[in-house]
Amino acid sequence: MKILVINGPNLNMLGMREPAIYGSQNYATLCSMIEAHAEEKKVEIKIFQSNHEGAIVDEIQAAYGNFDGIVINPAAYTHTSIAILDALKAVGLPAVEVHISDVSKREDFRQFSYAGMACEKSFIGLGFDGYLRAIDYLIEKYA
Ligand code: DQA
Repeated sequence: MKILVINGPNLNMLGMREPAIYGSQNYATLCSMIEAHAEEKKVEIKIFQSNHEGAIVDEIQAAYGNFDGIVINPAAYTHTSIAILDALKAVGLPAVEVHISDVSKREDFRQFSYAGMACEKSFIGLGFDGYLRAIDYLIEKYA
């Protein structure tokens, strides 16, 4: 099984970025945790991060025929991007949404998720563990 993990803008700044909200562990640590988990579960993984909406759309499109599922934290684009929603719907791959923080307890503008409309499951407010849970969900349902 091949899973694509996509991270949106500013997630590369984890560790120094608002640690009270996102924790003190950095992006490299997140990637190592995901890679170790994938190895343990014997799935292939690609981790992609971009601060650019179009690059994320391109990556989702390129996943068609090459991956069996997508784990996505679109970060701020969660709440704004119809383009990412449309790309997820276009490729039709099983997709799972992740948010490190508990967006349900944050500002009003974070209460709506466009990408979430194309995702079959969300893991929200579980910190980095949400990514591992999302991977497990895809394995259990589709491997
Ligand atoms: C986030 C939540 C978003 O509202 C925010 O814009 C992010 C990160 C999270 O993982 O908690 O950049 O997606």
